[in-house]
Amino acid sequence: MDKIISLCKRRGFIFPGSEIYGGLANSWDYGPLGTELKNNIKQLWWKKFVQSRDDIVGIDASLIMNPKVWEASGHLKEFSDPLIECKSCHARFKEDSLGGKECPICRKKEFTLAKQFNLMFKTFIGPAEEKDNIVYFRPETAQAMFVDFKNVLDTSRKTLPFGIAQIGKAFRNEITPGNFIFRTREFEQMEIEYFIRENDWKKYFEYWRKEMIGWIKDLGVDMKKIHEIEIPDKERAHYSRRTLDFNYEFPFGEKELYGLAYRTDFDLKNHFKEPPYKEEGVEPFYPHAIEPTWGVDRSVLVALLEAYHEEDKRVVLKLPMKLAPYKAAVFPLLANKPELVKLAKKIYDDLRKDFMVAWDDRGNIGKRYFSQDEIGTPYCITVDFDSLEKNDVTIRDRDTMKQERVKIVDLADILKQKLEN
Ligand code: GAP
Repeated sequence: MDKIISLCKRRGFIFPGSEIYGGLANSWDYGPLGTELKNNIKQLWWKKFVQSRDDIVGIDASLIMNPKVWEASGHLKEFSDPLIECKSCHARFKEDSLGGKECPICRKKEFTLAKQFNLMFKTFIGPAEEKDNIVYFRPETAQAMFVDFKNVLDTSRKTLPFGIAQIGKAFRNEITPGNFIFRTREFEQMEIEYFIRENDWKKYFEYWRKEMIGWIKDLGVDMKKIHEIEIPDKERAHYSRRTLDFNYEFPFGEKELYGLAYRTDFDLKNHFKEPPYKEEGVEPFYPHAIEPTWGVDRSVLVALLEAYHEEDKRVVLKLPMKLAPYKAAVFPLLANKPELVKLAKKIYDDLRKDFMVAWDDRGNIGKRYFSQDEIGTPYCITVDFDSLEKNDVTIRDRDTMKQERVKIVDLADILKQKLEN
């Protein structure tokens, strides 16, 4: 983890949040490369689960919703952790996190009885900080898919089974955040509520289990490090009748990466007085929901952990092509030869119309290769003196380090082909 955190900072993937003010504990900012990586993950997901399917549509809802949403969803009452407080230094801990031992801060052993602590962040709408103006930052994106169910249904004319998807921020006042971007108080989720008939829930639970495995493979994850964990009755969220967690072997232990839940008709029933789904020939009814959910930041972390390789002389991020922040880098062999720089710049500008491309003309070529390897750029293109004569360039592969010469006119097509493989 230390190596990943240091690479992320050094190369502009992820920085500590508010660093020049001494930071803000457990907040992280995505830098230029991290933003590309994260956006690539979100775009891949959106394309796979929304744009290439007929049965799923997307929404992008407000993250501050009417507080009645959280009353109806059960989050105001249920979304809490039991906390104990050290009687000596008043630090608070999750009840089950200390195992009855001493306070890790002051080493005393006396604690208060556990009190429920709601994980939702509160704020106020308007200037008056009064009870009536309290609103909450959403703790999951899911509720908007239920609250907007009827509007989506009426405008998209979907019939069961169909899903509503959303990518967006969620906020939780976590008691034990940590492990870099694994658990933070502000994070992003990619969620689908897949609406079905009650009788079909087992079939679609299994269907989404397989879809989630497919996605994990797309991220380049070694499936040996993934463990499917059935969550027992008492530990499931208040809305779920079955939950399967996809755990990953993180360097800090095996922990939840993604989750799959059968939310029944719990949410739609709580939000809609009348059954919101009608079909010819049957009484209106409440569809049930299967919910596959993915954390964006945990996806970024896992993609980085899986891609990180140390070899003899280099560190290389073997990211899947689709996730790599830059798809290629263009170098003039020598920065002080204007004819090389001019041709390289032209190639760079042409390729940028279709791909994210980096430019580098500093230091020697070997160092430039290693610098691109470290950020996962799949291909490096070098313009040398032969290029001026023969209209070709070398293209060097990140993983095999092999080089080949290709014609400049064919470069964009070749790159496209290679990136799709
Ligand atoms: N709508 C269901 C739901 O929110 P969850 O298991 O609480 O379920 C879904 O969260 C996913 O969001 C998790 O599998 C994880 O990937 C991510 N996640 C949850 N809490 C997080 C946190 N504090 N920091 C980063 N990611 C988090």
